[in-house]
Amino acid sequence: MLSQLLACSGVDTVVIDRKDRAYIEGRVRAGVLEQGTVDALEAAGVADRLHREGLPHDGFELAFDGDRLRIDLRALTGKPVMVYGQTEITRDLFESRFADGQQFFFDVEDVTLSDLRTDRPLVCFGHRGDRVTVECDYVAGCDGFHGVSRQAIPTDVLRTYERVYPFGWLGILVDQPPVSHELIYANHASGFALASMRSETRSRCYVQCDPGDQIDDWPDTRFWDEFEKRLGPDIASGLRRGASFEKSIAPLRSFVAEPMRWGSLFLAGDAAHIVPPTGAKGLNLAVADVRLLARALAEHYSNGNDHYIDTYSETVLRRVWKVERFSWQMSNLLHQFPAHSPFEKRMQRADFDYLCGSEAAQQSLAENYVGLPLE
Ligand code: PHB
Repeated sequence: MLSQLLACSGVDTVVIDRKDRAYIEGRVRAGVLEQGTVDALEAAGVADRLHREGLPHDGFELAFDGDRLRIDLRALTGKPVMVYGQTEITRDLFESRFADGQQFFFDVEDVTLSDLRTDRPLVCFGHRGDRVTVECDYVAGCDGFHGVSRQAIPTDVLRTYERVYPFGWLGILVDQPPVSHELIYANHASGFALASMRSETRSRCYVQCDPGDQIDDWPDTRFWDEFEKRLGPDIASGLRRGASFEKSIAPLRSFVAEPMRWGSLFLAGDAAHIVPPTGAKGLNLAVADVRLLARALAEHYSNGNDHYIDTYSETVLRRVWKVERFSWQMSNLLHQFPAHSPFEKRMQRADFDYLCGSEAAQQSLAENYVGLPLE
């Protein structure tokens, strides 16, 4: 996305990835886009299929031990969200970048970053048996939580903040219509469940699982039994079970690294921060980062203005922390925590009851869900 946005401003990039295109296009990720993300994809010229195939949603539902609350996003904020898989966005971006003649290196190994405190930083890597060096003006570390970029910042400069949650999400894809037209996030004594979708005929469903669980612990029948129970009989009466064709377990983590710029290196997306998937902010947050980074670099190249480069880390982190807060809060509201005391369980229920009775609380939830302003 950064490469696409920079190309729109006439700035050349070289994209380097440790994985290959087929692997990247095969990974299933979350699927809810904020309006701001949709706007950015439009501005970048990659929203045609999104508008044809994406599903605009005016609201979503919360279910708590069978009690239900619809959050009317459109009425509360004037904005919808768009349901469209992150993997589909990646495909659309690849197609556009390839058509443009973008330079890519896939399947690279042993990536090292050096001279990051100069204005001629180097990225070196192994590619098809050769050692390649790219001399750059800037390096954008968009290489995820396990990438090398964040590690290139000296430990006496880098500060990290982390929370690991005592559960994971088990997700499946199934070719059955979604149980409801809108997403349903459920908290139940047995744990969290989420009924999501990829299309009118393809469902994406999740249940909270133990962090150490393996895929084999969760045959489809166990998954559906738990999913039904957690959604409650009302909702589950409309459920159609089917054979899953994708099943994966994701850990839940909140993580932030500061600063997000060091010399000629910028961090963006998961390289600098992780949110738990509750609320589907991961991709949206990464897109917000690269929108601000693209603006900073475009200003530098078009008129030598480095103000946005110098304030990138501070500006982005202010938004990052707010989105971290929201994802943490949604996760706290909707999961069963093994260590929760009876008091904490009551507090969680009171949070839900407060939401049910307060338009102000619903509005606060809704404005975060549809996406906070870029700055
Ligand atoms: C998804 O469809 O994968 C999804 C939707 C909403 C979330 C997380 C994941 O909060």
